[in-house]
Amino acid sequence: MAASIIAAGAIWRPHCKAIRSPSIAKMLVDGGAVGITCAKVSQAAAMVSAGVKDVLIANEIVGHKKVAAMISLIPRMDRLCVACDDESNLRMISAEAEALGVTIGVLIDMNIGMNRCGIHWSKKDEIIAMSHLAEKLPGIEYRGLMGYEGHAQGVDKKDELSQLVADRLGSAKKWVEDSGLKVPLVSGSGSGNYFVSKDLGTTNEIQAGGGVLHCMQYATSMNGHDKEPDHRNSIQLACQIISLAGFDEGRAIGDAGFKTMFPSGVLPWVALVAFHVLRAQAAMYDSCHRTHTSRLASHVSRNSPRVSRLASRVSRLTVL
Ligand SMILES: Cc1ncc(COP(=O)(O)O)c(C=O)c1O
Repeated sequence: MAASIIAAGAIWRPHCKAIRSPSIAKMLVDGGAVGITCAKVSQAAAMVSAGVKDVLIANEIVGHKKVAAMISLIPRMDRLCVACDDESNLRMISAEAEALGVTIGVLIDMNIGMNRCGIHWSKKDEIIAMSHLAEKLPGIEYRGLMGYEGHAQGVDKKDELSQLVADRLGSAKKWVEDSGLKVPLVSGSGSGNYFVSKDLGTTNEIQAGGGVLHCMQYATSMNGHDKEPDHRNSIQLACQIISLAGFDEGRAIGDAGFKTMFPSGVLPWVALVAFHVLRAQAAMYDSCHRTHTSRLASHVSRNSPRVSRLASRVSRLTVL
């Protein structure tokens, strides 16, 4: 992930909403990230306490209590940056930073089609005005624009939507630069489309993070694209096949723990089946484990469309 983003000329600031662990965050920084991205002040505080020095909070932080808590992190850091889409919020951040004698980076947040936070991409005057205000206010360093494109990361229309997002961010950057203000950063993108957006020439700070874990949910959002990156699962679970009683109906049962393994409801891939176990069990059905495994795989494929999709991804056998 790091290598491909850096090779494309962008910087990598992985979002840690899926990672959560400061020690993994530090590994990412050692592996080429300029710093990390967090969603909230409390997450940033945990990372800073563990020694992470450069954080973007890629959401609006509102209200005096949270703004003050955010600003209080800065003396322990090299750099803190936050997203902002509102003038009064920007003024509050500035006043807090000035009072503490520190500087905080600000990215003007744009809604580039996801309809979450951010100034709508078409509001040219507002984007320009907020950028100039951020540049002018004390205690603030204007860092550029942000537009997060969660809606462009589904398996369908990834290219089309990523391009549209890049066009919207690119236009906004041009508006601000034509008004006389340099836009150092355009920040955004996620694990589900970074391998597309990094090459579109607009987003130069890539926030994709959780994909380093390559759990099934992230894997599903990356797979099948012609630029699908070469990620590997960060963890594998060894379990035992405890029953083939339903074999004739295409069922093999593993003792892996459904609810603890994938609360998001996405089935794991079966990477490896312990063949000595299967072979012994196969003897009950067939003299040859090859026949057994292919029979089981075809039963599984026929009987469960969901597993059938997964079956095509494993070399030998998919079980439930
Ligand atoms: C603001 C923001 N940036 C980036 C991301 C991408 O994170 P990930 O790569 O873990 O999907 C997210 C995910 O929701 C996000 O909300």
